[in-house]
Amino acid sequence: MTDHPSQRVLISAALPGEADALTEIAFAAKRHWGYPDAWIEQWRAALTITAEFIATHEVFAARKAGSIAGFAALVRDGGILRLEHLWVRPGDMGRGVGSALFRHSQQRASALGFETFEIESDPSASGFYLRMGAEQMGTSTSAFLEGLTRELPVFRCHASRCAPALRARRE
Ligand SMILES: CC(C)(COP(=O)(O)OP(=O)(O)OC[C@H]1O[C@@H](n2cnc3c(N)ncnc32)[C@H](O)[C@@H]1OP(=O)(O)O)[C@@H](O)C(=O)NCCC(=O)NCCS
Repeated sequence: MTDHPSQRVLISAALPGEADALTEIAFAAKRHWGYPDAWIEQWRAALTITAEFIATHEVFAARKAGSIAGFAALVRDGGILRLEHLWVRPGDMGRGVGSALFRHSQQRASALGFETFEIESDPSASGFYLRMGAEQMGTSTSAFLEGLTRELPVFRCHASRCAPALRARRE
C-alpha cells in the first residue's frame, strides 16, 4: 500500500467486488474526451472491468475520502508489461490522482522485475504520459468503426525514472 500524503490519495489493490465501480470510472473517464456514443459502445468490452480481471492482474485503486477516484492496471504480455488501464473520475481530474497512479505503476513494475512498461495511449492523454517522463516509441494502427482506422501513440516508461519536476515534488 502506498500513501501519497501531498495529494491525500491512498493507493491500494483493487478488490474483485469493486469491478462495477471501476467500470463506471473507465466509461466516465473515456466519455470525458467527448467521444460519440457509438464509439463508446465500440469500446464497451475494453472499458468493462471484471472481477476475474482484478483477481488475475495488478489492478490498484486511488482512494480519496473512502471513495475510488481512479484506478490503473498492469498486465503481463509475454515478456512485456503493459499499463492497460489508467482512468481518473472526471470530478477528480487535474488533482494529482493520475500522477499518483502512474508513480505507483512505476513502483509496481520495478517490484515485479521490469525495467520498463508500455502504454498504448488515447491521443488526448499523450501530454499526460509525456509529462510523466514516458517516451513515444511509435504508433499503433487498428481497424475501427465503419472502415475507419485509428492511430494511437505508444509510449515506453522506465520503472525507475520519473519526470524531473515530479521527482523534485516527491523529495
Ligand atoms: C489522463 C489522466 C489519467 C490524467 O490524470 P489526472 O489526475 O487528471 O492528472 P494529474 O492531475 O496527476 O496531472 C499530472 C500532470 O500531467 C498534466 N496533464 C494531465 N492530463 C494531461 C493531458 N491530457 N495533456 C497534457 N498534460 C496533462 C497535468 O497538467 C499535470 O502537470 P503538472 O505536474 O505540470 O501540474 C486523466 O485525465 C484521465 O483519466 N483521462 C481520461 C481517460 C484516459 O484517456 N486515460 C488514459 C488512457 S490511455
